Amino acid sequence: MILASQLRKAFNAGTASEKVAISGVDLQVGSGEFVAVIGGNGAGKSTLLNLLAGAILPDEGSIEIDTVAVTRVPEYARAKMVARVFQDPMIGTAPSLTVQENMTLALMRAEGRGLRRALTMSRRDTFRQSLAHLRLGLEDRLDALAGELSGGQRQALSLAMATLCPLKLLLLDEHTAALDPRTSELVMEATVSLISRSELTTLMVTHNMEHALAYASRIIMMNAGQIVADIGADEKKGLTVADLVARFRIKDDRMVLSA
Ligand SMILES: Nc1ncnc2c1ncn2[C@@H]1O[C@H](COP(=O)(O)OP(=O)(O)O)[C@@H](O)[C@H]1O
Ligand SMILES: [Mg+2]
Repeated sequence: MILASQLRKAFNAGTASEKVAISGVDLQVGSGEFVAVIGGNGAGKSTLLNLLAGAILPDEGSIEIDTVAVTRVPEYARAKMVARVFQDPMIGTAPSLTVQENMTLALMRAEGRGLRRALTMSRRDTFRQSLAHLRLGLEDRLDALAGELSGGQRQALSLAMATLCPLKLLLLDEHTAALDPRTSELVMEATVSLISRSELTTLMVTHNMEHALAYASRIIMMNAGQIVADIGADEKKGLTVADLVARFRIKDDRMVLSA
């Protein structure tokens, strides 16, 4: 269970360019929930994820992960509990290392162990298996350089690396947005398969309303640093993309959406 209470974060505080990115955010996410986070540009979505990951610390409020208070715990110390995948396929993986080496690095980071211990034959099989589940052909490319993979394969590799070890929270920040529509669907399917197999608690920022409606168990809408709507599974069932867009427009007609 993720519990965020009264989170506030301002950038450039006390200067003329002060920007309150998040204010008064309360959020409770149960174990295994898959929450889509939607909202226009600048709504505070990435800042919320950054706060949960510990990449930035809040000015006010608190965060608990499975009853452990992590509010002031820095990102590296949360890495065993929280993993992230970003929009840019170039960010999550090291291009000059092979798929297997990238996976091994992720394992070392998560387990804090040495390379020799991690690089065994059984690891290779484990890697191959977890990559095969993603259905992007990565299981046959363990020795390929990550830099030679397609964008979709790199995002799938980032996902596999993020979820190699047991996690309390997976954060996806528009992780399919830079991909072409077809690849975006494939990576989304891989994501859903991963999440449901591991019953991962997940927050996914997306501009894709169809993905939010089809795959998430709950949709949170953000605007101007606040959560302005929280749509649970029951309410979500009857909604269409058009309904969601309409709700958006009512909240703020400046919002830019793509379905
Ligand atoms: N490091 C930063 N320094 C200054 N302002 C920032 C920083 N990060 C985000 N902001 C501002 O905070 C607001 C929320 O940003 P962000 O969380 O990235 O929005 P979203 O992900 O919903 O597009 C925006 O106005 C943005 O310009
Ligand atoms: Mg963002």
